[in-house]
Amino acid sequence: MLMIRPQKQLDYNKDFAKDIRDFFSERRSGHVGIWRYSEPLFEGDKVNGMGQWAEYIKKAKAGNAYYVPNGEIQALKTLLQNIRGHVKGDATVIDLGPGSEDALWGKVMPILEALDSKHYIGVDIVPECLERIEASLKAHAPDVKFAGINSDFYWNRVKLPTDTTLVMAIFGQTIINLPIDPRVEKLPDMVLGSYFKRFYSHLNGNGYFIAAQDTNQNEADFHDAYMTGADFHLNLLYRIKRDLPVSAGFNPDAFGFKITFFKETGAMAYTYVCKKPMNFELEGETFSLFKGQEFYLHNSYKFQADRFVNIAKNSSFDLVETQFDADQRVAIHLFKTV
Ligand SMILES: C[S@@+](CC[C@H](N)C(=O)[O-])C[C@H]1O[C@@H](n2cnc3c(N)ncnc32)[C@H](O)[C@@H]1O
Repeated sequence: MLMIRPQKQLDYNKDFAKDIRDFFSERRSGHVGIWRYSEPLFEGDKVNGMGQWAEYIKKAKAGNAYYVPNGEIQALKTLLQNIRGHVKGDATVIDLGPGSEDALWGKVMPILEALDSKHYIGVDIVPECLERIEASLKAHAPDVKFAGINSDFYWNRVKLPTDTTLVMAIFGQTIINLPIDPRVEKLPDMVLGSYFKRFYSHLNGNGYFIAAQDTNQNEADFHDAYMTGADFHLNLLYRIKRDLPVSAGFNPDAFGFKITFFKETGAMAYTYVCKKPMNFELEGETFSLFKGQEFYLHNSYKFQADRFVNIAKNSSFDLVETQFDADQRVAIHLFKTV
């Protein structure tokens, strides 16, 4: 890690700047979540999405209100008891968004063990995340053959081997975090369907897919749970200040965080609330934010399990089996391509 604060990036990321201009002008909503995954550049840097994510999960595993990580592990354990009844032959496990070491040891290793496999491919947009996973495996499970692919698995086709049974998995609710306007009806089903089609192509049209989703419909319950991740969501504001040429008026500390639920669409929107009027400029565009103005940065969609499965079925997958955690909130589905 660098010990001194670097100068503002001159060669900044133009896609990031465009997304942020669209966001604060409200031309688009719900699309900036991907920029939360970040690494610090200097000691004390408030931009540390991956670190905050790991912290969020660590507290959940220790038993706070965020029930999802433990729920996923529980449901997965039941699913894995019979996975060899379905998946035959030598298998390679593909992890879409490995995230933290916690997830590696809690979710991916049990799949590798259940399949008696030593072949693991991680796909992630954050290269440092893949490096961490590789280092952790080298230290604790050197016999696992790991390959990291630094790519966006929604936008890009991921090339996977054809001489092995592919078992692709997505945990951490990534699949139901849709980057769209939470108020638009029918859109979530379309976008989720397009993700399934994308995953079908990663699998070369032949393989298994394990997907985890929070099916909880109790608003008070999931509200308290997801609020525990506020620091992770807020870190993006510091990244805007650190990495983009925003004018001095942009103040990351002047935003609050809340959760807004849209019953009609099933979207639980992560929301920034501007706490005081703010004027700033980015790439020649000026922004005037008012006190109380709300911005939806990202969403977690609370699909009921059968709606989720139907979308998969309409996108070239068949359901093999679903298991829930003991509280019936978190579902793990095993799908197979058709
Ligand atoms: C919500 S975290 C889940 C982490 C872990 N699988 C778990 O169960 O806790 C999402 C992970 O996926 C990565 N990610 C999110 N969107 C991605 C995308 N479109 N393409 C590639 N990686 C992505 C993030 O960098 C992060 O590591």
